[in-house]
Amino acid sequence: MIFKIKTQIKKIPFLLPFFNYAYISIFKPLGIINLGFYTTIRTLRFSLKKNNIEAWKVSMRVSCHIIEKGLTMPERRLGFGLPRLANIANEVLKNKHNENLSEVKVAVGIIKDYKKVHEKSFYKLPEKISDLLERVEIMYPDLKIIKQLKLTKEQYFSSKNENFLKFSSSRRSIRNFSGKANAEQVQKAVELALKAPSACNRQVVKCHIFNDKEKIQEILSYQNGNRGFGHLIPQLCVLTVDLRLIGENEQNDIYFNAGLFAMNLSYSFHYYEIASCMLNWAAPPKRDKKLRKILNIPKHESITVLIGFGIPSNLIDIARSDKKSSKESIINN
Ligand SMILES: Cc1cc2nc3c(=O)[nH]c(=O)nc-3n(C[C@H](O)[C@H](O)[C@H](O)COP(=O)(O)O)c2cc1C
Repeated sequence: MIFKIKTQIKKIPFLLPFFNYAYISIFKPLGIINLGFYTTIRTLRFSLKKNNIEAWKVSMRVSCHIIEKGLTMPERRLGFGLPRLANIANEVLKNKHNENLSEVKVAVGIIKDYKKVHEKSFYKLPEKISDLLERVEIMYPDLKIIKQLKLTKEQYFSSKNENFLKFSSSRRSIRNFSGKANAEQVQKAVELALKAPSACNRQVVKCHIFNDKEKIQEILSYQNGNRGFGHLIPQLCVLTVDLRLIGENEQNDIYFNAGLFAMNLSYSFHYYEIASCMLNWAAPPKRDKKLRKILNIPKHESITVLIGFGIPSNLIDIARSDKKSSKESIINN
């Protein structure tokens, strides 16, 4: 029946081109606006709510990560991050009822590491901070110190030919570099990363590679998250997506596709003995426009993430970035 109607409609002159025109110029744009609106409303509705345990856990995780990053910076500055450290310690002390949460265990472990690192270097922390850290230690004498990792380059890449369990567990974000990967290594890594799945096999991602120190520094000056190591990043990949290739309801999905590629690229880098660290591109429109201009990329490309990469130092300081347990992540339905 429907088939018959369709065949009849097709016979009416100009009707099909009219429908096509109406779809492209009215219904498709309306669909895009609708999805954008829906996403924004949901984001507004939930992202501003901070008065819940999940938001507390995430803020603890972020703060702890900033401290563990600071402990592994290539040119570590002792006495760094004191306001943040004080904040973590205060949150631990104030929230004894959260003692079983992994976030508290990580926070205490990192506080103990921070304290030990400074004691070993005979660095005297301000008395107020020392007291706070001491109180955390007294409250949790049995929780273990969480030491950051220190691996030689050989140790870091030693699992590159192992099974996936060992290989993927050995990949880390690296922020200590010694030099540039060669063009062949980079090309091979991108080739391997292109094996990533993509919706309808569209392959919407482009890798803009930068090797010039000044250009990289100019780009990184617009990125929040490379302080303490960005000035030593030897190479940079700016991952973009081509907005012309978005299908129906795919304007969020396109970034998911880029994420899959980015993950595959970091594994591929690892396989080819290139160290890397993703660098968020969570930027407001003004900054995004500025960077797009500097990069000189086509108007239809959007930046998704930056990836700093290169050959790692011979001895690499690595932030542990302990992960959640599967129990915390699996919801059996
Ligand atoms: C989308 C994304 C953005 C990131 N941005 C930054 C960043 O701006 N600065 C940084 O030092 N690390 C950044 N990272 C690295 C994370 O801090 C790191 O992946 C996390 O701590 C887990 O550590 P691991 O990669 O060693 O497992 C980013 C990671 C992702 C996935």
